[in-house]
Amino acid sequence: ESQLPFKGKICLITAGPTYEAIDPVRFIGNHSSGKMGAALAMEMASKGAQVILIMGPSHVVTDHHLIQRVDVKTAQQMYDCVHSHIERVDYAIFSAAVADYRPINPASQKIKKKTDTLSIELVKNPDILASVGSMNKRPFLVGFALETENELEHAFAKAKKKNTDLLVLNSTRDKGAGFGKDTNKITLIDRDQNTIDFDTKPKTEVAKDIVDEIIKRVL
Ligand code: PMT
Repeated sequence: ESQLPFKGKICLITAGPTYEAIDPVRFIGNHSSGKMGAALAMEMASKGAQVILIMGPSHVVTDHHLIQRVDVKTAQQMYDCVHSHIERVDYAIFSAAVADYRPINPASQKIKKKTDTLSIELVKNPDILASVGSMNKRPFLVGFALETENELEHAFAKAKKKNTDLLVLNSTRDKGAGFGKDTNKITLIDRDQNTIDFDTKPKTEVAKDIVDEIIKRVL
Protein backbone atom coordinates (compact mmCIF):
# COMPACT_ATOMS: atom_id res chain seq x y z
CA GLU A 1 0.00 0.00 0.00
CA SER A 2 2.54 2.58 1.14
CA GLN A 3 4.71 1.71 -1.85
CA LEU A 4 1.78 2.39 -4.20
CA PRO A 5 0.39 5.66 -2.80
CA PHE A 6 -1.20 6.58 -6.14
CA LYS A 7 -3.01 3.27 -6.72
CA GLY A 8 -6.35 3.99 -8.42
CA LYS A 9 -5.35 7.59 -9.20
CA ILE A 10 -4.89 9.07 -12.67
CA CYS A 11 -2.01 11.38 -13.53
CA LEU A 12 -1.72 13.34 -16.76
CA ILE A 13 1.75 14.47 -17.84
CA THR A 14 2.80 16.62 -20.80
CA ALA A 15 6.35 16.25 -22.06
CA GLY A 16 8.71 17.01 -24.90
CA PRO A 17 8.68 19.84 -27.41
CA THR A 18 5.99 20.87 -29.87
CA TYR A 19 6.59 21.31 -33.59
CA GLU A 20 4.74 24.11 -35.35
CA ALA A 21 4.69 23.79 -39.14
CA ILE A 22 6.11 26.56 -41.32
CA ASP A 23 5.56 24.53 -44.48
CA PRO A 24 5.40 20.78 -45.21
CA VAL A 25 9.14 20.30 -44.50
CA ARG A 26 9.96 22.89 -41.80
CA PHE A 27 8.84 23.72 -38.32
CA ILE A 28 9.44 25.91 -35.26
CA GLY A 29 10.52 23.73 -32.35
CA ASN A 30 12.79 23.68 -29.30
CA HIS A 31 15.43 21.50 -27.67
CA SER A 32 13.24 19.54 -25.23
CA SER A 33 14.06 15.82 -25.36
CA GLY A 34 11.14 14.56 -23.27
CA LYS A 35 13.51 13.06 -20.66
CA MET A 36 12.19 15.04 -17.69
CA GLY A 37 8.56 14.19 -18.47
CA ALA A 38 9.39 10.55 -19.14
CA ALA A 39 11.15 10.30 -15.75
CA LEU A 40 8.09 11.78 -14.04
CA ALA A 41 5.79 9.34 -15.86
CA MET A 42 7.93 6.36 -14.77
CA GLU A 43 8.07 7.64 -11.18
CA MET A 44 4.29 8.19 -10.92
CA ALA A 45 3.61 4.79 -12.55
CA SER A 46 6.06 3.04 -10.23
CA LYS A 47 4.07 4.48 -7.31
CA GLY A 48 0.83 3.03 -8.71
CA ALA A 49 -0.67 5.88 -10.74
CA GLN A 50 -2.28 5.28 -14.09
CA VAL A 51 -0.38 7.75 -16.26
CA ILE A 52 -1.56 9.48 -19.42
CA LEU A 53 1.66 10.76 -20.99
CA ILE A 54 1.03 13.32 -23.72
CA MET A 55 4.33 13.55 -25.55
CA GLY A 56 5.56 15.89 -28.26
CA PRO A 57 8.05 14.56 -30.85
CA SER A 58 10.61 12.56 -28.81
CA HIS A 59 12.60 9.35 -29.10
CA VAL A 60 12.62 8.74 -25.36
CA VAL A 61 11.28 5.30 -24.47
CA THR A 62 8.63 5.03 -21.73
CA ASP A 63 7.87 1.41 -21.12
CA HIS A 64 5.54 0.69 -18.20
CA HIS A 65 2.18 -1.07 -18.19
CA LEU A 66 0.59 1.82 -16.29
CA ILE A 67 1.73 4.43 -18.83
CA GLN A 68 -0.62 5.19 -21.70
CA ARG A 69 1.39 7.31 -24.14
CA VAL A 70 -0.23 9.63 -26.65
CA ASP A 71 2.14 11.15 -29.21
CA VAL A 72 1.27 14.62 -30.49
CA LYS A 73 3.05 17.20 -32.61
CA THR A 74 1.62 20.68 -32.15
CA ALA A 75 0.60 22.80 -29.16
CA GLN A 76 -3.00 22.76 -30.38
CA GLN A 77 -2.98 18.94 -30.53
CA MET A 78 -1.46 18.81 -27.05
CA TYR A 79 -4.13 21.22 -25.78
CA ASP A 80 -6.96 19.19 -27.34
CA CYS A 81 -5.55 15.92 -26.00
CA VAL A 82 -5.11 17.33 -22.46
CA HIS A 83 -8.67 18.62 -22.41
CA SER A 84 -10.10 15.34 -23.69
CA HIS A 85 -8.77 13.67 -20.49
CA ILE A 86 -8.49 16.38 -17.84
CA GLU A 87 -11.95 16.01 -16.25
CA ARG A 88 -11.11 12.55 -14.86
CA VAL A 89 -7.55 13.27 -13.79
CA ASP A 90 -6.34 13.57 -10.17
CA TYR A 91 -2.84 14.96 -10.84
CA ALA A 92 -1.47 16.92 -13.78
CA ILE A 93 2.19 17.70 -14.40
CA PHE A 94 3.12 20.03 -17.26
CA SER A 95 6.75 19.48 -18.19
CA ALA A 96 6.35 20.03 -21.94
CA ALA A 97 8.15 22.88 -23.67
CA VAL A 98 5.17 24.18 -25.63
CA ALA A 99 5.71 26.67 -28.44
CA ASP A 100 4.16 29.97 -27.39
CA TYR A 101 3.55 30.93 -31.04
CA ARG A 102 2.86 29.12 -34.32
CA PRO A 103 2.96 30.31 -37.94
CA ILE A 104 -0.45 31.80 -38.63
CA ASN A 105 -0.68 30.36 -42.15
CA PRO A 106 1.61 27.40 -42.79
CA ALA A 107 2.45 27.21 -46.51
CA SER A 108 0.85 24.26 -48.28
CA GLN A 109 3.97 23.77 -50.45
CA LYS A 110 7.67 24.04 -49.62
CA ILE A 111 8.61 27.74 -49.45
CA LYS A 112 11.02 28.56 -52.32
CA LYS A 113 14.23 30.49 -51.79
CA LYS A 114 13.66 33.84 -53.53
CA THR A 115 13.85 37.03 -51.49
CA ASP A 116 16.80 38.03 -49.27
CA THR A 117 14.58 38.30 -46.24
CA LEU A 118 11.50 36.36 -45.32
CA SER A 119 8.97 37.07 -42.60
CA ILE A 120 6.71 34.52 -41.04
CA GLU A 121 3.74 35.83 -39.12
CA LEU A 122 3.05 34.05 -35.85
CA VAL A 123 -0.05 33.77 -33.69
CA LYS A 124 -0.24 32.84 -30.00
CA ASN A 125 -0.89 29.24 -29.05
CA PRO A 126 -3.30 28.43 -26.21
CA ASP A 127 -1.57 28.15 -22.80
CA ILE A 128 -2.42 24.61 -21.75
CA LEU A 129 -1.28 24.91 -18.13
CA ALA A 130 -3.08 28.23 -17.60
CA SER A 131 -6.26 26.80 -19.12
CA VAL A 132 -6.25 23.98 -16.57
CA GLY A 133 -5.26 26.34 -13.75
CA SER A 134 -8.41 28.36 -14.37
CA MET A 135 -10.77 25.36 -14.20
CA ASN A 136 -13.17 25.27 -11.24
CA LYS A 137 -12.64 21.64 -10.39
CA ARG A 138 -9.06 20.97 -11.30
CA PRO A 139 -6.48 18.31 -10.54
CA PHE A 140 -3.50 18.90 -8.24
CA LEU A 141 -1.43 21.00 -10.61
CA VAL A 142 2.34 20.95 -11.12
CA GLY A 143 3.83 23.38 -13.64
CA PHE A 144 7.36 23.99 -14.84
CA ALA A 145 9.22 27.21 -15.53
CA LEU A 146 12.30 27.28 -17.71
CA GLU A 147 14.03 30.61 -17.21
CA THR A 148 17.16 32.29 -18.53
CA GLU A 149 17.32 35.34 -16.19
CA ASN A 150 15.61 36.77 -13.07
CA GLU A 151 14.59 33.18 -12.44
CA LEU A 152 12.79 33.44 -9.09
CA GLU A 153 10.91 36.58 -9.99
CA HIS A 154 9.67 35.10 -13.27
CA ALA A 155 8.80 31.79 -11.65
CA PHE A 156 6.80 33.44 -8.83
CA ALA A 157 4.81 35.33 -11.45
CA LYS A 158 4.18 32.13 -13.44
CA ALA A 159 3.03 30.21 -10.37
CA LYS A 160 0.48 32.93 -9.62
CA LYS A 161 -0.70 33.48 -13.17
CA LYS A 162 -1.08 29.78 -13.96
CA ASN A 163 -2.46 28.91 -10.49
CA THR A 164 -0.12 25.97 -9.79
CA ASP A 165 0.02 23.97 -6.56
CA LEU A 166 3.72 23.38 -7.22
CA LEU A 167 6.01 25.04 -9.73
CA VAL A 168 9.30 23.45 -10.78
CA LEU A 169 11.86 26.09 -11.68
CA ASN A 170 14.91 25.20 -13.76
CA SER A 171 17.35 27.61 -15.35
CA THR A 172 19.42 27.41 -18.52
CA ARG A 173 22.14 29.23 -16.55
CA ASP A 174 22.76 26.16 -14.37
CA LYS A 175 25.20 23.65 -15.78
CA GLY A 176 23.61 20.23 -15.76
CA ALA A 177 20.08 21.64 -15.98
CA GLY A 178 17.43 21.95 -18.64
CA PHE A 179 17.04 20.70 -22.21
CA GLY A 180 18.44 17.37 -23.32
CA LYS A 181 20.65 16.74 -20.28
CA ASP A 182 20.38 13.60 -18.17
CA THR A 183 20.49 15.78 -15.04
CA ASN A 184 18.53 18.74 -13.78
CA LYS A 185 18.73 21.31 -10.98
CA ILE A 186 15.41 22.53 -9.66
CA THR A 187 13.80 24.85 -7.15
CA LEU A 188 10.23 24.04 -6.10
CA ILE A 189 7.77 26.84 -5.37
CA ASP A 190 4.56 26.14 -3.49
CA ARG A 191 1.29 28.07 -3.18
CA ASP A 192 2.65 30.24 -0.36
CA GLN A 193 5.75 31.03 -2.44
CA ASN A 194 7.95 28.94 -0.17
CA THR A 195 10.96 27.65 -2.09
CA ILE A 196 12.90 24.40 -1.79
CA ASP A 197 16.29 24.10 -3.53
CA PHE A 198 17.63 20.78 -4.75
CA ASP A 199 21.10 19.77 -5.93
CA THR A 200 21.95 18.83 -9.50
CA LYS A 201 21.04 15.15 -9.98
CA PRO A 202 19.83 12.67 -12.61
CA LYS A 203 16.35 13.44 -13.94
CA THR A 204 15.16 10.10 -12.52
CA GLU A 205 16.11 11.37 -9.04
CA VAL A 206 14.67 14.82 -9.72
CA ALA A 207 11.39 13.14 -10.63
CA LYS A 208 11.46 11.30 -7.26
CA ASP A 209 11.99 14.60 -5.41
CA ILE A 210 9.06 16.23 -7.21
CA VAL A 211 6.76 13.26 -6.61
CA ASP A 212 7.76 13.10 -2.91
CA GLU A 213 6.78 16.75 -2.53
CA ILE A 214 3.42 16.01 -4.20
CA ILE A 215 2.87 13.14 -1.75
CA LYS A 216 3.68 15.38 1.24
CA ARG A 217 1.00 17.81 0.13
CA VAL A 218 -1.86 15.49 -0.83
CA LEU A 219 -1.63 12.16 0.96
O1 PMT B 1 12.61 17.50 -22.10
P1 PMT B 1 13.97 17.66 -21.47
O2 PMT B 1 15.08 17.72 -22.50
O3 PMT B 1 14.24 16.63 -20.38
O4 PMT B 1 14.02 19.10 -20.75
C1 PMT B 1 13.21 19.36 -19.65
C2 PMT B 1 12.61 20.77 -19.69
C3 PMT B 1 13.72 21.80 -19.63
C4 PMT B 1 11.81 20.96 -20.99
C5 PMT B 1 11.67 20.89 -18.45
O5 PMT B 1 12.42 20.71 -17.29
C6 PMT B 1 10.95 22.24 -18.43
O6 PMT B 1 11.43 23.23 -17.91
N1 PMT B 1 9.71 22.29 -19.03
C7 PMT B 1 8.97 23.52 -19.23
C8 PMT B 1 9.56 24.26 -20.40
C9 PMT B 1 8.86 25.53 -20.71
O7 PMT B 1 8.54 25.75 -21.87
O8 PMT B 1 8.62 26.35 -19.70
P2 PMT B 1 7.83 27.75 -19.76
O9 PMT B 1 8.39 28.54 -18.65
O10 PMT B 1 7.90 28.34 -21.15
O11 PMT B 1 6.32 27.33 -19.51
C10 PMT B 1 5.71 27.40 -18.25
C11 PMT B 1 4.72 26.29 -18.04
O12 PMT B 1 3.57 26.46 -18.88
C12 PMT B 1 5.25 24.88 -18.33
O13 PMT B 1 4.70 23.99 -17.39
C13 PMT B 1 4.72 24.61 -19.74
O14 PMT B 1 4.52 23.21 -19.96
C14 PMT B 1 3.38 25.33 -19.70
N2 PMT B 1 2.89 25.83 -21.00
C15 PMT B 1 3.56 26.84 -21.64
C16 PMT B 1 3.06 27.36 -22.83
C17 PMT B 1 1.88 26.81 -23.37
N3 PMT B 1 1.36 27.27 -24.51
N4 PMT B 1 1.24 25.82 -22.72
C18 PMT B 1 1.72 25.31 -21.56
O15 PMT B 1 1.13 24.40 -20.97
